Amino acid sequence: MANYRNKGGVAVIELNNPPVNALSFEVRSGLMNALKRAHDDKDVKCIVIHGKGKNFSAGADIKEFGGTKQQKPWITDACRLADESSKPVVAAIAGTALGGGLEVALFCHYRIGTPSCRVGFPEVQIGVLPGAGGTQRLPRLIGVKHSIDMITSGRHVMAEEALKLGILDKIVTDDIIEEGIQFAKSVVGIDVGGRILRNRKVEDAGSKVFDDEISRVKKKYKGYIAPLFCLKAIQASMQLPYDAGMEQELKLFQQLVSSGQAKAQQYTFFAERISARWQLPSGANSQTASPLPVKTAGVIGAGTMGAGIALCLITSGIPTVLVEQDQKFLEKGVKTVEGDLRGSVALKKMTAEQANKAISVLKTSVNLEDLHDVDLVIEAVYENLALKKEIFAKLDKICKSKTILCTNTSSLDIDTIAEATKRRDKVVGTHFFAPAYIMKLQENVYGKDTSAETVATVMALGKRIRKVPVLVGTCDSFVANRMLHPYATEALFLVEEGASPYEVDQALEDFGMPMGMFRVSDLSGLDIGYKVRKEAAKRRGIELTSDTRFVNGERVCLLANVLVEKGRLGIKSGKGWYNYGSPGKREATPDPEVLDTIEEYCRKYDIKKRKISSQEILERMQLAMINEGFKILEEGIVSKPEDIDIIWIYGFGWPKYMGGPMFYANEMKLKNVYRKIRDFHQNYPFSIHWTPSKLLARLSETDLPISKWTSLINSNSKL
Ligand code: 3HC
Repeated sequence: MANYRNKGGVAVIELNNPPVNALSFEVRSGLMNALKRAHDDKDVKCIVIHGKGKNFSAGADIKEFGGTKQQKPWITDACRLADESSKPVVAAIAGTALGGGLEVALFCHYRIGTPSCRVGFPEVQIGVLPGAGGTQRLPRLIGVKHSIDMITSGRHVMAEEALKLGILDKIVTDDIIEEGIQFAKSVVGIDVGGRILRNRKVEDAGSKVFDDEISRVKKKYKGYIAPLFCLKAIQASMQLPYDAGMEQELKLFQQLVSSGQAKAQQYTFFAERISARWQLPSGANSQTASPLPVKTAGVIGAGTMGAGIALCLITSGIPTVLVEQDQKFLEKGVKTVEGDLRGSVALKKMTAEQANKAISVLKTSVNLEDLHDVDLVIEAVYENLALKKEIFAKLDKICKSKTILCTNTSSLDIDTIAEATKRRDKVVGTHFFAPAYIMKLQENVYGKDTSAETVATVMALGKRIRKVPVLVGTCDSFVANRMLHPYATEALFLVEEGASPYEVDQALEDFGMPMGMFRVSDLSGLDIGYKVRKEAAKRRGIELTSDTRFVNGERVCLLANVLVEKGRLGIKSGKGWYNYGSPGKREATPDPEVLDTIEEYCRKYDIKKRKISSQEILERMQLAMINEGFKILEEGIVSKPEDIDIIWIYGFGWPKYMGGPMFYANEMKLKNVYRKIRDFHQNYPFSIHWTPSKLLARLSETDLPISKWTSLINSNSKL
């Protein structure tokens, strides 16, 4: 709703829908009525609109999209009187004015804001466009070029920049409502005609600007349709009179709102927030547990991962000690950190001053003892259980009793590592993804004794260092890599059966993955997987050679080992599944030598090859991984399907416009997913990953939407 009061001739209208004053039906109706009242009241000389609490408004209520709630009055109907009023209308902005919130402000004649306020049109990130005049009014205020930038990126613009662009008329430092009232009084009597945006013309930027922008947007936001629709709407502001432009904008908005991409992107928006609300089996949760302060940190291991993690910490202002046992490796790690900082400055992701500030809080050492005073340590050494246990035993003696000990292991048992210490409650997994400075996922893994306080601390740390933290339980390879395993295994089987690695990658990239499976393997280094496989086999007492095709009755494909043994380690050696010309180069070219190796391999084992469609490639890789996802849910390793989707979006770049693998399964209808998995299980009996999940079987009978799965899982703990 919207509150109304008359303060000495100033109508003060408050948008009231905490916490972010989303423009629900009630708020829009309330705003429309309040503006009418102000318009009709002869005592009122000017009008101020502000938001209740910390924010002006975060825009339309996303929960209403696609729902049954009444659409009219729309934001434009609610604001019509602000536009037409001869009394000056002032938007007084604190916190955020985003999407429809900024559109309300653009209907006002003036806008003032606090120094920390932010404005923007983030609609594109939830698969839509500004659909209440934003694409028509912003170009009339700040021009086409800046409007394209703001609307297609969805970025938040801080107060200073908003003032420079002309979105804000003034930045004020006192109480925003009082400032709004004073400002409104100061402009009473000044003709508002020139301030009404609908009356302004949009400068003609020419059609070439749009041609260029279409190419840029297609490349930068590959696969996303909303940015292209945004461009069309902005172009309409240039080509059409105001009213026709508004009609065109609404038409495009409605097309997007009913698109599958918008549904998926909005699901992702809420999934991220649902996933942040964690719970431990004990019942302790994000509402009940408080994090410990992390004022200083330590990172052990200055390799690619360790250096990347240290970079995340120092760029978030956390003084960090980077420890390596060897001075030469340490120096190499520091060079990596410095190089990445220089790169960020060159790409204008940070200023030279920020980079200098970050490096000034990095200390280095070759002595674990130097971690005696830090609040939290992240170990990022080679994936070797004995080594990790040794380090944790030492840390337990060296560090303060309150220090939290984290491991960046991607597969090893957290409980076994914790057993090396006398503080099992303070041991936790913080699994980062390569490149650690870029990838947003932080997979936090709790062990059986990890305390809620420890979990709260690493979840809060993740947010602080601008990651998306997700909490998972401990199991072999946790969630991300455990699901990756059947996905990657199927990729290799498909290659054995007749698809080339390049066809596999093409199918995945056409689907929207940023990189195909084989290109990712080349980037990570084929030798890494090679060593992990050898270590895992050793732990299980198995001997693996490139001739191994079955292990305990289970089909395996060790083609990647054949490549490693030929010296093809991926990008680092200039050759892997692809050819890169020389070591370190990124441009991947299909390599006939690899195809010959595969041919030879298949001949050797008498494997019949056949033509494989891209549909089969996608179905086999994705359904194998989705089935594993249901098993993970079934075992309680994660508490909700949204966790899995967020892991795939931020850990492996699953396209947001496809909403994550569990959402994707939901859209396919679970009975179809289950039927296909059962078929694959019949056709490929030697792959355990095709054994259908019991939870999937059960859910497939119910036809429940993804939002209801968690309640079914909780009500049927024994499935
Ligand atoms: N609609 C409905 N709910 C919303 C919402 C919105 N526009 N924006 C936020 N919320 C909800 C969140 O889901 C969350 O709910 P929860 O507590 O139940 O999980 C609660 O408000 C608080 O949000 P956050 O946890 O995200 O709070 P933060 O302080 O971290 O962030 C924010 C605040 C920056 C405003 C962030 O919420 C945000 O980015 N919101 C979405 C903004 C957006 O996309 N606006 C465009 C909407 S579409 C539109 O306006 C169309 C128009 O052009 C016609």
